Amino acid sequence: MSRSGTILAALGRGAELVAQLGWALAIMALPVFVVVTGVLVSVIWNSRGRRAQGDRTRQVALDPAARQASVSEGRAERPILVLGAVIPALVVAAALAASVITLQRLPSGSQEGSTEPNRDTVVIDIVGSQWWWSVAYPQHGVVTANEVHLPVGQPVLLRLTSTDVIHSFWVPRLGGKTDALPDDTNLLTLHAEEPGRYPGVCAEFCGLNHARMRMVAVAHEPAGFAQWLSQQQGTAADPTKPQETEGRGLFLSAGCAACHTIRSGTGPLGSDSATARRRGPDLTHLASRERIVGGSLDNTREELRRWITDPAQLKEETIMPPATLPDEQLEALLSYLESLQ
Ligand code: CUA
Repeated sequence: MSRSGTILAALGRGAELVAQLGWALAIMALPVFVVVTGVLVSVIWNSRGRRAQGDRTRQVALDPAARQASVSEGRAERPILVLGAVIPALVVAAALAASVITLQRLPSGSQEGSTEPNRDTVVIDIVGSQWWWSVAYPQHGVVTANEVHLPVGQPVLLRLTSTDVIHSFWVPRLGGKTDALPDDTNLLTLHAEEPGRYPGVCAEFCGLNHARMRMVAVAHEPAGFAQWLSQQQGTAADPTKPQETEGRGLFLSAGCAACHTIRSGTGPLGSDSATARRRGPDLTHLASRERIVGGSLDNTREELRRWITDPAQLKEETIMPPATLPDEQLEALLSYLESLQ
């Protein structure tokens, strides 16, 4: 990951606190590392000399008089006690204190005491599934996937959950990792301070394609965010070309509609049940997204074609079946999907 995606380039309130804690822990750990490594190296170094004296040591162990003499070595236990128990206890206590203080200072959704925050807070429902993120704005009737758009300069409340296994939502520059659990809702408040694109990942191993479960957080100025919302609130564009109309028909007849929904002017195309929504991303504004397939591929016609015709090649064990369409129909379907701005 490039530095621009690391916690050290924090640009959100939560992430800044996490980065400060990271530095504090690193500074505490450095002397411990130096001392332990130093002792280790010196022990290894000295043991080469001692090996020559091995016979004498064995003598001491067998001879009671010699053992008596070695009692004075008991004094050597004091540094071991200090280095091995007292100092580690102090360092760990300091690390614990720093962590607890940071935890309390983090902007937390739970500060509001419930999953229903005050009316002005933008709420985003994020659902992790193997291996993509559903992103919904319940106050605005917007649903997208693998992209979290948010306004800068104000806290945004994320409600995280999962349909299958434990995932972890992590946009390193904006905030700490938060688990998305199958049976519970975790809250995370993000507070972006500058507009920009912030790469995010799933940070909990969740199966074969864990590494391909990516997303991006896009922070807008408030006006830009409102514009994005109103664009996403709109229903899908109607086909303007015969090829696109044919593609829309294929979307409904070729199987896509079993798991995907397109909100059209005449109502939802495809299955709009909650179960279906959880199987595959809402495609209403598919063409407006930067990336597809759990954020792992650029949203180009070529990549979309590769994905639709052989999903398992790009993502083993995906539940998406391959589309077996003649070339001409495949191109029609692609044209329709590409028209969904
Ligand atoms: Cu989802 Cu790792």
